[in-house]
Amino acid sequence: MLAVHLVSFFFSKLQEDPTKKVDRFLYAMRLHDDQLKDISARFQAEMKKGLSSESNAAAAVKMLPTHVRSTPDGTEKGQFLALDLGGSKFKVLQVKVREGIGIKKGGVEMEEKTYPIPKELLIGKGTELFGHVSESLKDFLHKRNISLEKKHPLAFTFSFPCEQSALDQGLLLGWGKNYRPRGLQGKDVVQTLREAIDRTGGLDVEVLAMVNDTVATMMTCGFDDEHCEVGLIIGTGTNACYMEELRHIDLVEGDEGRIFEKMISGMYLGELVRLVVLKMAKLGLLFDGRVSDALRTKGKITTAHVAAMEEYKNGLKNTKDILMELDLNPSSDDCIAVQHVSTIVSFRSSNLAAAGLAAILSRIKKNRNLRTLKITVGVDGTVYKTHPQYPKRLHKVVRRLLPECHVRFVLSDSGSSKGAALVDETLAPFRLSQDQLQLVKTRMRAGLEAGLKSKGPSTVKMLPSFVYRTPDGTEHGKYLALDLGGTNFRALLVNFKKGLQHNSRLYHKIYTIPQEIMQGTGEELFDHIAQCVSDFLDYMGMKNAHLPAGFTFSFPCEQTAIDTASGTLVSWTKGYKATDCEGHDVVSLLREAIKRRNEFDLDIVAVVNDTVGTMMSCAYEDPQCEIGLIAGTGTNVCYMEELKNIEKTDQKFGKTEKGEREEDVQDEVTEGEKKEGDAEIPRMCINTEWGGLGDDGSLDDIITPYDLEVNQNSLNPGKQRFEKLTSGMYLGEVVRQVLLDLTRGGLLFRGHVTETLKTPGIFQTKYLSQIESDRLALLQVRSILQQLGLNSTCDDSIIVKEVCGAVSRRAAQLCGAGMAAVVEKIRENRGLDHLNITVGVDGALYKLHPHFAGVLQETARILAPRCSVTFLPSEEGSGKGAALITAVARQKHD
Ligand code: BG6
Ligand code: BG6
Ligand code: GLC
Repeated sequence: MLAVHLVSFFFSKLQEDPTKKVDRFLYAMRLHDDQLKDISARFQAEMKKGLSSESNAAAAVKMLPTHVRSTPDGTEKGQFLALDLGGSKFKVLQVKVREGIGIKKGGVEMEEKTYPIPKELLIGKGTELFGHVSESLKDFLHKRNISLEKKHPLAFTFSFPCEQSALDQGLLLGWGKNYRPRGLQGKDVVQTLREAIDRTGGLDVEVLAMVNDTVATMMTCGFDDEHCEVGLIIGTGTNACYMEELRHIDLVEGDEGRIFEKMISGMYLGELVRLVVLKMAKLGLLFDGRVSDALRTKGKITTAHVAAMEEYKNGLKNTKDILMELDLNPSSDDCIAVQHVSTIVSFRSSNLAAAGLAAILSRIKKNRNLRTLKITVGVDGTVYKTHPQYPKRLHKVVRRLLPECHVRFVLSDSGSSKGAALVDETLAPFRLSQDQLQLVKTRMRAGLEAGLKSKGPSTVKMLPSFVYRTPDGTEHGKYLALDLGGTNFRALLVNFKKGLQHNSRLYHKIYTIPQEIMQGTGEELFDHIAQCVSDFLDYMGMKNAHLPAGFTFSFPCEQTAIDTASGTLVSWTKGYKATDCEGHDVVSLLREAIKRRNEFDLDIVAVVNDTVGTMMSCAYEDPQCEIGLIAGTGTNVCYMEELKNIEKTDQKFGKTEKGEREEDVQDEVTEGEKKEGDAEIPRMCINTEWGGLGDDGSLDDIITPYDLEVNQNSLNPGKQRFEKLTSGMYLGEVVRQVLLDLTRGGLLFRGHVTETLKTPGIFQTKYLSQIESDRLALLQVRSILQQLGLNSTCDDSIIVKEVCGAVSRRAAQLCGAGMAAVVEKIRENRGLDHLNITVGVDGALYKLHPHFAGVLQETARILAPRCSVTFLPSEEGSGKGAALITAVARQKHD
């Protein structure tokens, strides 16, 4: 073999610097610049020969045309499947290019999966290998839920020499690397693939193009850099492609420069080192002349070993470990010598690659009659990617050989696994196990129980709502509803028609509440609300109607039985922090503001939490609805609890009052339509305020450093810990903290922490929902990031999407675990083996996010197997529910 030919005969056994004997031994492997220039010139001559029809047969460098006429120009669009066969990994990919935006502006999304190729297929029948390829393709389509019916265009990266007469045709000239399948030489590879796909069946795929990996790499890198006109692979094999002038290409066939490949490529680097080391040991120059069986075995030293031996700092230790693995007992001199062998071998490889590349670049320069050339080379391959010194050495030599060219090297991001491992590590704490979720359910259950007790603190407040039943359809009349505390403020007019169940008309108008008002004085806030109401009444032409009104106020309020039209704000949550409101009755605050306006009058009959409003609104449609869930700006749940379990009301009103009150309740229940079987059991809707779970540290084991940061920067540090893990107002902030960390670690946005990224609140729920949408190509993700002022590469957008996914999935799972605790409690309350129940739901996170609802439901199903829970999204918001409660209260007093 080659290395053996290079053995020189001057060696001695004198004690000396161990690298010296290696230098002498491998003298011929050292290549000086003039030699490299010479090689480069010979290369150029061979390339010329290869391009001409007369001399091609004799040329050592094959120069196969690829029929790719231009690098991507950004107009390509659509979705493609791709197969990538011939590198160290066989991969199936889905590539999406977004219409209108195109590749150049970053419209490419790629997902890939590696499929192992069983060893026997590498030396078996060629048709079997292709059968495996098409089966893998089918599996990929299946796993990624890509429709099998639709016709999918497919591009085939096939990294072996083929003679192409068109983009979708290629005759295999010969296998290479470790591939030796039988029966395909001289056959059209594209046709063979098509036949295999037909045999597999059920796949409607059209093979449109076949390209060599070098070409694919050039194209990939061309996405990001328009000057990329050379593709270089230094991996299992080595090869290059470039854009040649069409006029220079005659006809092409011949034999590839295979010897050159053996000197450079990964498949042979380790083997060369092994042969040299073996020879030196046999000659007594290493290991005191001892040779092990392992060292005699082909393939025992790999490219990865070569890379490890040359690692900075650990290289010598690695060399020792590798040699020990080979059953050798190296002295420290032996290690130094072997390390030096590997350096010389890989140096030669990078030198030769540089000479080859220099030839290509000179040719391009000459073709174009340029004095200087500015060009980008797209590179891929395991040697280039994993060897610690390889890229630097290659770049240096190319620049030395061609001082007049500005050469930029771009690593192909098709192998986008860059940094993926580190990203994975960052996201690991967001991935909760079933055991952890089970624990959250248990803690939520304990929180619910503690909150119902009369004594002792509880992070889950369990606020009584004094709503004793869900609507029964007898509600009637016109009501005004005000809805404050979600993303927007809404004013509504609802008209329930008597006797006609499920017949209501609704008019509404949406108002935004500016942040300075949310966080200004209480007076300003309520004046602003009164102004919105005034506007709405004008809009409806009802300024003088003096309507009964219900007020959805989506913050924790203490209420009393005597007056459901009052509620004392316990504390602000979410984005509100208006002064002089906490501890005050919010209905009085609103009444005072209306009075200050002195323009219209309202009869505020009831104040309700948004969860309660949502439950009521949905129960109007589905009588099984006895739970209300909000997953929006904030998160919260209410449900119908047995009155007997609500100890805190006992204490608050004293025995007698409670006795009276129970009679009251009985009246209300019998007044309404009785629900089968359980009408006699008095219940009350409890606003759990479950967002407070964890305020005593009980969730600390799942809280990540990013959550801590978000908590610290919030309006209410230490409060609403569960809400901060699960709701729209905070998820974007958690994502931003993770992105900041990844960027600081150099894994994202090229390590550049921009002002935008440092800006709190840039990732609103709607962006998270868009970014995670499956229908969105990565290109769109990139354009969303662009809108947010974040310049991202394809890799960046993959990572951002991944981060959003981890954060929102955790949120949905936690809400699912909480919901499991609630439904289990209701089931036990009622002594049922199985509970059928409906949850009325509202909130932008639930309604707009592509995966949140699904994950929440699935988690609840797994953690509460004895409950069948139906989730019913509220259609008209909680305002309608507030109006229903108002109607009930009104009718009672009529
Ligand atoms: C991969 C490309 O990243 O690199 C393949 O997707 C190419 O097309 C390969 O063949 C070359 O490197 P290696 O080291 O896997 O042979
Ligand atoms: C609305 C309800 O539809 O949803 C509000 O009417 C509720 O009462 C809101 O607060 C919650 O969702 P978000 O996403 O606006 O916080
Ligand atoms: C917050 C509020 C709560 C409300 C929820 C959803 O958690 O404290 O009252 O129901 O947000 O809007």
